[in-house]
Amino acid sequence: MKKVMIRGITGRMGRETARTVLKMKGFQLIAGLSKRKRKKTLAEILQDSEVPELEIGVKLESEIESRKPDIMIDFTGPEGLLPALEKALKYKIDLIVGSTGLTPEEKSRLEELSRETGRNVFLIPNFALGAVLLMKFAREASRFFPRAEIIESHSEEKADAPSGTSLATAEGMEGARPNPGEDEISFSLPGVRGGNKEGVNIHSIRLPGIVARQEVVFGGEGQTLTLTHNSLSRKSFMPGVKLALEKIRGKRGFVYGLEELL
Ligand SMILES: NC(=O)c1ccc[n+]([C@@H]2O[C@H](COP(=O)([O-])OP(=O)(O)OC[C@H]3O[C@@H](n4cnc5c(N)ncnc54)[C@H](OP(=O)(O)O)[C@@H]3O)[C@@H](O)[C@H]2O)c1
Repeated sequence: MKKVMIRGITGRMGRETARTVLKMKGFQLIAGLSKRKRKKTLAEILQDSEVPELEIGVKLESEIESRKPDIMIDFTGPEGLLPALEKALKYKIDLIVGSTGLTPEEKSRLEELSRETGRNVFLIPNFALGAVLLMKFAREASRFFPRAEIIESHSEEKADAPSGTSLATAEGMEGARPNPGEDEISFSLPGVRGGNKEGVNIHSIRLPGIVARQEVVFGGEGQTLTLTHNSLSRKSFMPGVKLALEKIRGKRGFVYGLEELL
């Protein structure tokens, strides 16, 4: 039985992940952390009396020392993320990191830490299978349609922009080329063309009511091709979370992206 701790258990992803772990055979949810101290137990937070009694902790190291998890799943956000992951690795815990917003330098450091400690670290910017397939199709399409832009939409509460998925999508589009006419455009509004990653402009929408949506628009002579993925609820991420939990039992080292686990 693998003991699981969820950092960010009171959040939208953390709550959905807790429900998922509680239903999985071979895994036991033994601890949960949030930023602010809660008087409510997990059963009260999930509004489910069947859920075992579990108090929510706020201190990472003392929770680890008292409950001794084997795996930590992190759905918090970019703030203070790397130091927290580093602490958990010191205790020889395997990590599944769903939080987005790590800088490329932080990502490299995490990979290094995984090597140094010999622990599995799965950094998964998007657990939705459809989003992973979209990235694969975008890579393929960019060979034939080198001009493309990405529009990514998320909830207004998302702490980072652009999304980790849009950056990874752009990075993977090896055939993509920048707009040759970009220097000649006169801009009356700064930032109107979005940000540029590997020749692909990324536009970020943040609005209430959206979970996660990504559109990659390719333009060619006399035609466009649009790939769209829509996460309609946080349930869309749970098959990916389950897969990561199943795979982390083996020896995998550092893994970036769900595609490496498929
Ligand atoms: N990989 C994926 O497929 C995927 C999918 C969706 C979202 N995400 C990412 O997952 C992360 C969480 O998203 P969300 O929508 O669930 O956010 P959310 O609803 O705002 O929840 C954030 C959670 O993290 C906790 N938290 C924040 N800082 C903390 C800290 N320093 N120590 C301990 N707990 C801390 C919060 O505690 P309090 O409640 O006490 O503030 C809360 O439980 C974001 O980075 C988001 O981009 C990833």
